[in-house]
Amino acid sequence: MEDKLLMKSAIEARHNAYAPYSNFYVGAAVLMENAEVVIGNNQENASYPSGLCAERVAIFQAGARYPGIEIKTVAITATSKNYVVKEPAAPCGNCRQSMIEYEQKQQQPIRVLLMGEEGKVILFHSLVDILPLAFSSSFL
Ligand code: THU
Repeated sequence: MEDKLLMKSAIEARHNAYAPYSNFYVGAAVLMENAEVVIGNNQENASYPSGLCAERVAIFQAGARYPGIEIKTVAITATSKNYVVKEPAAPCGNCRQSMIEYEQKQQQPIRVLLMGEEGKVILFHSLVDILPLAFSSSFL
């Protein structure tokens, strides 16, 4: 039920994506241990690399607003103006790296829920499962 509500927040967030160039709308919702939900959506830019993915908008906002609070789950969903997204939206490599930073920081796994516009939902119990061999502060 908690997961369903979180995905609902991600779907709502998707509606406010600013994606006039790709027409691909991504929503992310982050559930914090204090039960707060922080959302994000992709924000594009005419200078393409200046835009940011939904997952990073959400996770950075979570870090900015609740720096000491554990992150429990991130729900991600995507839709497109051009086709029906039937497969779960896979976060890009940069977003996986950005999210795993917080898992390493809190030393507790972050669950990840992935969904397209319709169809199956995939649950991962840790960022490690979608980003093996991640770079971390231990190398620095
Ligand atoms: N996008 C995300 O928001 N998350 C991802 O993990 C992959 C891609 C966005 C970025 C861009 O606005 C659009 O999807 C097309 O790449």
